[in-house]
Amino acid sequence: MMDSANSINRDTCKACGLCAEVCPMKIMTKDASEGISFRPDRLPLCIKCGQCMAICPTQSFVVNGLSYSKDFFELPDPLSSADMFFNMIATRRAIRNFKDKPVPKALLEKIVQAITFAPPGFTPIKTEITVIQNTEVIRKALPYMIRVYDELLEAMNNPLARFFIRQKVGPAKYKTLKNHVVPLMKSRLPELKLGKEDTITRNAPAMILFHADRNAENHETDIHIALTYGFLAAHALGLGGSAMDLIPPAVQNNQELKRMLSIPVGNHVVASMILGYPKYRYQRGIKRELKSVLWI
Ligand SMILES: Cc1cc2nc3c(=O)[nH]c(=O)nc-3n(C[C@H](O)[C@H](O)[C@H](O)COP(=O)(O)O)c2cc1C
Repeated sequence: MMDSANSINRDTCKACGLCAEVCPMKIMTKDASEGISFRPDRLPLCIKCGQCMAICPTQSFVVNGLSYSKDFFELPDPLSSADMFFNMIATRRAIRNFKDKPVPKALLEKIVQAITFAPPGFTPIKTEITVIQNTEVIRKALPYMIRVYDELLEAMNNPLARFFIRQKVGPAKYKTLKNHVVPLMKSRLPELKLGKEDTITRNAPAMILFHADRNAENHETDIHIALTYGFLAAHALGLGGSAMDLIPPAVQNNQELKRMLSIPVGNHVVASMILGYPKYRYQRGIKRELKSVLWI
């Protein structure tokens, strides 16, 4: 929330009104005689999104707590960026087969940078990430994840335990557990336990965990958007990755894993992304249709 210490430099402000146009809370108004002014009743609604400062042609508008030099950057030339963007999303795939090659830290840093560009529902940002660049840590974590799924299968065989699981995760997640996770794990756990395959971490050389304070507002939605930025960035950098929904609940439900992966106490692990150099090259894209597109 912004206090009343926001400011407009009246000497440089041209009263173009762009700040008022883009402000999501419509905190500013443009008046022909007075220029830009604030609605005092709306000032406390400011989410410090920075849009007013990002659009101001003369850097006249300052939100309390934000600075032009620290919190903003010059935009790159947008020429042909539409083609680049569509080529990029059309060629992305969920990558689950990786070369036995570590991911350089510089590329992981670029992915982290891309994740910081993901739009939050509102500030302050709640998303926290843990970048696991040490492949050994992932290999060490896998047996613990296998154990969590072993215990889950056992629990799902017990009607009372099933009832409590349903209460804990809610009907939608319970449906995913029952219809997808349990059948998958029933078929894969024997091979996983024998070390013959890795359906959970896919032998990925690197991994990013996305988590947030479990009580933080809007954190799951923010994290899924951040995750999407992450795997698009990985693809743009010549890496491959995939979201992995099997990993977060395993980490969430095992204290040893939470410690091993440095998840702060009280944080909810929402999403994960495995990362590495793709082993195979896809020859064609996959066409998909949305369930419905309605034009009104
Ligand atoms: C939120 C989310 C969770 C996912 N979890 C898993 C997972 O646990 N295991 C897996 O193999 N793939 C997982 N995926 C990858 C999807 O299965 C994949 O995106 C889908 O098959 C479509 O393939 P494409 O990404 O190549 O278009 C996940 C994807 C998303 C977006």
